[in-house]
Amino acid sequence: MRFHPEPATSPSTIWHNAKYYHPSHPMLHIANRSDRFRFVRLSVEHQSTFARFLAALDANGDAEFFHPHGFDEDSSLEIVNRSLRGVDEYWLAVAGEDILAYGMLRGWDEGYDVPSLGLAVAPDHRGRGLARAMILHLHDRAASRGAIRIRLKVDRRNLSALRIYEAQGYRLDDHSATELIGFFELAAGHHMSTPDHELPFIPVASPDLSGNEERYVVEAVRSSWISSSGAFLDRFEAEFAAASDSRYALGVSNGTTALHLVLVGMNVQPGDEVIVPSMTYIATANAIRYCGGTPVFVDVDPNTWCITAAAIEAAITPRTRGAIVVHLLGQPADMDPIMKVASTHGLWIVEDAAEAPLATYKGRTVGSIGHAGTFSFYGNKLLTSGEGGAITFQDPHMERRYRMLRGQGMDPDRRYYFPIIGFNYRMTNVAAAILCGQIERRTAILERRRRIWGRYVKNLSRVPGITLRTENDWSKTSPWLFVCLVDECTFGVGRDQLAISLHEQRIETRPMFVPLHSLPPYRQAGPLPHLPVTDALGTSGIMLPTYTTLTDHDIDRICNAITRTGAGQLGRSCGAA
Ligand SMILES: Cc1ncc(COP(=O)(O)O)c(C=O)c1O
Repeated sequence: MRFHPEPATSPSTIWHNAKYYHPSHPMLHIANRSDRFRFVRLSVEHQSTFARFLAALDANGDAEFFHPHGFDEDSSLEIVNRSLRGVDEYWLAVAGEDILAYGMLRGWDEGYDVPSLGLAVAPDHRGRGLARAMILHLHDRAASRGAIRIRLKVDRRNLSALRIYEAQGYRLDDHSATELIGFFELAAGHHMSTPDHELPFIPVASPDLSGNEERYVVEAVRSSWISSSGAFLDRFEAEFAAASDSRYALGVSNGTTALHLVLVGMNVQPGDEVIVPSMTYIATANAIRYCGGTPVFVDVDPNTWCITAAAIEAAITPRTRGAIVVHLLGQPADMDPIMKVASTHGLWIVEDAAEAPLATYKGRTVGSIGHAGTFSFYGNKLLTSGEGGAITFQDPHMERRYRMLRGQGMDPDRRYYFPIIGFNYRMTNVAAAILCGQIERRTAILERRRRIWGRYVKNLSRVPGITLRTENDWSKTSPWLFVCLVDECTFGVGRDQLAISLHEQRIETRPMFVPLHSLPPYRQAGPLPHLPVTDALGTSGIMLPTYTTLTDHDIDRICNAITRTGAGQLGRSCGAA
């Protein structure tokens, strides 16, 4: 017997049908390929299979469902008839010829606007997220019909059913446990879902300019100091140096120019090799190329996702001058062994801390451990001025050189005298004004973002097929964009399909960076080098919305959307598909 989908009848149904049936939708391919389940509304052609399904459940003696009737041919026909009348709804999760689960919403035929929900899952399909997927499907159906509450009845001895329903937010309603001996009534704690096109859009990042930023910008404008000197610039450099445990901090125009400036300061020349992780944003490698140097790409650590001392040491050649350590996505690299390797081999270390301002490694703030640190204040960063950057360093001999390089190479003591070729990489006083507003709220910004990361971890750590970066006790991360890894086989869909599904639910994401060694400017002739951790991160990582005004409710919405996307595919392994 073949099952056919019901025609779409409401916005929420359209979404569901699109998700599972629309011929041009990528999900269809996955659903068909792996024979994963789809929801179909019970109709007369399913009747005999349905009766067999119910009888099998009955014979199994498992009461993980409630239904007012016994499960013989007559009662199953009665159920089908109700479904056909279009009043009560009976849904099946089917895969191929099999019914895997059955869910009902009934009460409308008796005139209730609070329908009751019932559920049955075939015994050998339990524990695979199917009950949850069916409950969520029924919620959406109920919402599309205007219900604001769902009631369900569970046999009080049925502990596994109670657990499933409670996990979906249902609360026990003691007051209604009256003459229905042996049954509890549960009131739905759920908010009914809104049709997707009405959901508020959640961007991946959003600056928090809610402090003195505006006031300081107005002050800078009114003072007429809007160019590359002024009181805010001095204040920003002093405060950022202090916040970063560094002797010096210089404001520059962005994180890329910060890297370039530092590498010119390190005297990187054509032919020089600089070791970098392949898993980073392209600016890290581009800055080496701007100097004529050669980036040498290495793999990252599976726990920190950052470059390691061992990887650096293995890549050293007579041409190696130094390495750029990227504190990826806010996580500090393990710096002590890296600095040891550097000193053994006479290399310099630049910390690219664009994504990790204020993160600490064994109590030291990143950017203060290597020979220089670089930062970005782009709009999606933890501290932002729209565009902006900084370099940090400790060596007093370098201060003059960096200042000259930043300001066209002009001698600070002699106007229009240029002993070297420099760049215009200066930061404006207006950008510095915004940053002063950011820096004074850094603790609150860090705390809120840490709580966001914590909630993501709490919500996602047990979702099958989703992996999170492991914590360590020697560093304190700077919570930039939260990233999780999607294992297509276990989760049920891959990273890119998850991104499409979230996009449809008005949630913006970003894929993890494409490994640099595979990109056209850096790809070498011949087969790609195998950097297993980098390659895996590049294909499975997805960056989730992270910004201070993201609410707990937003995070739960994102996590529910993720869980639902996976649960909808039953989480079968690729091998079994
Ligand atoms: C690791 C890393 N390095 C450098 C940069 C470059 O910073 P910017 O965009 O400010 O030039 C970024 C920016 O996003 C980054 O993530």
